[in-house]
Amino acid sequence: MRIAIAADHAGFRLKEKIEERLSKAGHTVLDKGTDSTDSVDYPGYALEVANLVASGEADRGVLVCGTGMGMCIVANKVDGIRAVGPSDAYQAEMSRRHNDANVLCLGERSMDEGMAFEILDIWLEARFEGGRHAERLEQITVMEKKENAAR
Ligand code: RB5
Repeated sequence: MRIAIAADHAGFRLKEKIEERLSKAGHTVLDKGTDSTDSVDYPGYALEVANLVASGEADRGVLVCGTGMGMCIVANKVDGIRAVGPSDAYQAEMSRRHNDANVLCLGERSMDEGMAFEILDIWLEARFEGGRHAERLEQITVMEKKENAAR
């Protein structure tokens, strides 16, 4: 898979380890920064990865910040993005099987590396089930159109 990844300063270390793990597993990794633990603002990083996934230039996205929350909020502003921040393997698996999540957000400060890798691996492996779940995602797609947007 082509996987776009990015982090802010609070997620930099975990992002580097994720990049290594993904590359070793044979994925093509598009690393969009950041490149150190110097403080940066997370919104631009999340937007760049979300846009790569929404345009089809990447198959999936992985974003890391302190909690995963800020990245997730931003990524979900982009039409077609279904970003999730699972806190365990079950949520990670179901976010693929039922929600066809295409961006994974992780928090370096909120979980240890072992849990992050467990979530990452199952999230990459699990397949969307389609069927009634696809119909539900279609409802979300309709909501993304401006004239139907919730106010
Ligand atoms: C940075 O201090 C922190 O706020 C950021 O990494 C992230 O957790 C925001 O959601």
